[in-house]
Amino acid sequence: MNRITRHSVALLLSLGASLFLTACSSPEDGSDSDAVAAFNTTLDVKQVMAYVLDPAADILWASGGWVMDASGYEELYPTTDEGWDYVHADAAVVVEAGNMLALPGRAVDNDAWMVYSKGLSDVGLQAMEAAAARDKEAFFQAGAQLYSVCTACHQAYNPDILSKFQND
Ligand code: HEC
Repeated sequence: MNRITRHSVALLLSLGASLFLTACSSPEDGSDSDAVAAFNTTLDVKQVMAYVLDPAADILWASGGWVMDASGYEELYPTTDEGWDYVHADAAVVVEAGNMLALPGRAVDNDAWMVYSKGLSDVGLQAMEAAAARDKEAFFQAGAQLYSVCTACHQAYNPDILSKFQND
């Protein structure tokens, strides 16, 4: 354990040092393109959906509103501080997923795609605020808005996904 920790620290230090050196050796010019080259977009949009955004959205939707079951209406909202902190962190994933989709290498265009990506981040921030305030109604509204952002983008960029997604 100790060894691993020391190893990781050494790795981080050497990464830090090389970043520092890179920064020093390339002043002003070309720094923008260096930054772009540093994004790792190995995961394509479909994978970001399946592994990052969809699971995060599912947790958020499963944590708001009510469901009817055998014993009557059950409230889905978190009931403890830990529960709210968890959905607060989960909403932060949605905020950042908006940025992930907007990265060069993933963004499909510089137009509506960016509007929907930003929409995800905005709605994610609303959900974070609602969770921080333990505001159930605002949290539910953020969830509903989140759903419309997903649907709008799918309708525009991948109509096939719409039916698949709604069957879930
Ligand atoms: C900026 C546009 C955009 C937004 C916003 C968006 N999606 Fe997607 N989504 C896509 C595209 C494009 C695909 C099809 C990707 C492909 O098949 O190459 C997709 C595919 C999917 C898939 C299918 C993945 C698979 O394995 O086939 C799921 C599930 C999904 N999205 C969930 C969501 C959810 C949930 C949200 C909202 C929380 C959302 N998406 C928001 C563009 C978007």
